Amino acid sequence: MAAEARHFKYVILGGGVAAGYAAREFGKQGVKPGELAIISKEAVAPYERPALSKGYLFPQNAARLPGFHTCVGSGGEKLLPEWYAEKGIELILNTEIVKADLASKTLASAAGETFTYETLLIATGSSVIKLTDFGVQGAEYNNILYLRDVQDADKLVAAMQAKKDGKAVVVGGGYIGLELSAALKTNNFDVTMVYPEPWCMPRLFTAGIAHFYEGYYANKGVKLVKGTYASGFDADANGDVTAVKLKDGRVLEADIVIVGVGGRPLTGLFKGQVAEEKGGIKTDGFFETSVPGVYAIGDVATFPMKLYNDQRRVEHVDHARKSAEQAVKAIKAKESGESVAEYDYLPYFYSRSFDFAWQFYGDNVGDDVLFGDNDPAAEKPKFGSYWVKDGKVVGVFLEGGSADEYQAIARVAKAQPPVADVEALKKEGVEFATKI
Ligand code: FDA
Ligand code: NAD
Repeated sequence: MAAEARHFKYVILGGGVAAGYAAREFGKQGVKPGELAIISKEAVAPYERPALSKGYLFPQNAARLPGFHTCVGSGGEKLLPEWYAEKGIELILNTEIVKADLASKTLASAAGETFTYETLLIATGSSVIKLTDFGVQGAEYNNILYLRDVQDADKLVAAMQAKKDGKAVVVGGGYIGLELSAALKTNNFDVTMVYPEPWCMPRLFTAGIAHFYEGYYANKGVKLVKGTYASGFDADANGDVTAVKLKDGRVLEADIVIVGVGGRPLTGLFKGQVAEEKGGIKTDGFFETSVPGVYAIGDVATFPMKLYNDQRRVEHVDHARKSAEQAVKAIKAKESGESVAEYDYLPYFYSRSFDFAWQFYGDNVGDDVLFGDNDPAAEKPKFGSYWVKDGKVVGVFLEGGSADEYQAIARVAKAQPPVADVEALKKEGVEFATKI
């Protein structure tokens, strides 16, 4: 006979960044023991995912759990499993939900358990796009690796140990591509990066920004192969990858291959049950979906971006944290007949690799205005870019800034000051932002 359903007032489906920050907000707003459960297919309590492509891969003093559980990444208290236990928040781990019925408010796990709820927060995040999804020949060979969760990171660490000082090919020129190429190089691998575009991270970087990072990586000994992609792989008799075959006919030897060709929001469980937009689950400014009592937060949510008057999905940690807090505040306010202000998000992305670090705020649309010295060989690199649209600054990127300067560029991206003279803006550089 099937076990009885377990009932919770609130269920957070997913145990990643948004789940951890939502739990903390429930803790702040008040939650009774037994009211809230987090259901996650991962084996561990929510953690700060960005650590996996950075500190987790350091050759020395690498970050390990429990060191980076949420909410330590934004300077808050680290929520250890004991924290959830003390609050009476159930962490239902190693549990993959395979069916969701929003009409009957029921979730079913792969192991056959059922869970019912009054309010659901969908926080399933993204999955990696795999080369096997496109039927790339040999993409299933050993040591062709992806990075999304701590299990993937452990596989990568084991492969790095097994293939010490070997050859690594990194497929993809986005966030994972750039951060993992740096991590592998720092671990003494001979690294080649391959991506189809004319420059790395075209989703954000302009040619001028990419000029710096490509030169910097090249100076560190990372080889860059642009304008082509992996069309197949060779392996030895054990099935271990030995080479990457490129579309342009070149062949690169490889002991390890890391693939970072994008993510896909995990919305499949809810297909046909909830309104979708731009590949995500459509929400209002409180993260409530088209189904009352069902919220979507983090990577899966397509929400109204008030600042730009359109609907967007954001795959970055700052939004995962803030959307979670907003949804829980809205849920609790609604219960007590109060209201909260609509979400008013300023996009914020960042990355760190080798010994550089950048931040970006706002929107990368309109004309870009490069400032500072983007010479990759500069002793203390400091440069950036403004984006100017309809005569106003709408986005700012800065490498090598101080804490005050990063705060200043955030203010500028939000305030959108007018720009009369683009040449003067270029000359002024970050000073323009610090004056506002
Ligand atoms: P997240 O992916 O964190 O969590 C989803 C959770 O749901 C996971 O626990 C998953 O297992 C679970 N789940 C999914 N389906 C399920 C099911 N059916 N049943 C049960 N559980 C299920 N961003 C940034 O701004 N700066 C950075 O430096 C980085 N660095 C970075 C590194 C790496 C390696 C990755 C993969 C990503 C980043 N990011 C980042 C992006 C950032 O981490 C990401 O946007 C947030 O983790 C999104 O938070 P979510 O909670 O939405 O998803
Ligand atoms: P991405 O979208 O940043 O980059 C994907 C890249 O894949 C593209 O730039 C392109 O160069 C490349 N590409 C596409 N098809 C290819 C092919 N067939 N062969 C070679 N290259 C190909 O995605 P990602 O880097 O995989 O990151 C996955 C997710 O993790 C994203 O949501 C990202 O935002 C997130 N993430 C964010 C950070 C950060 O914010 N610092 C760091 C790591 C990961």
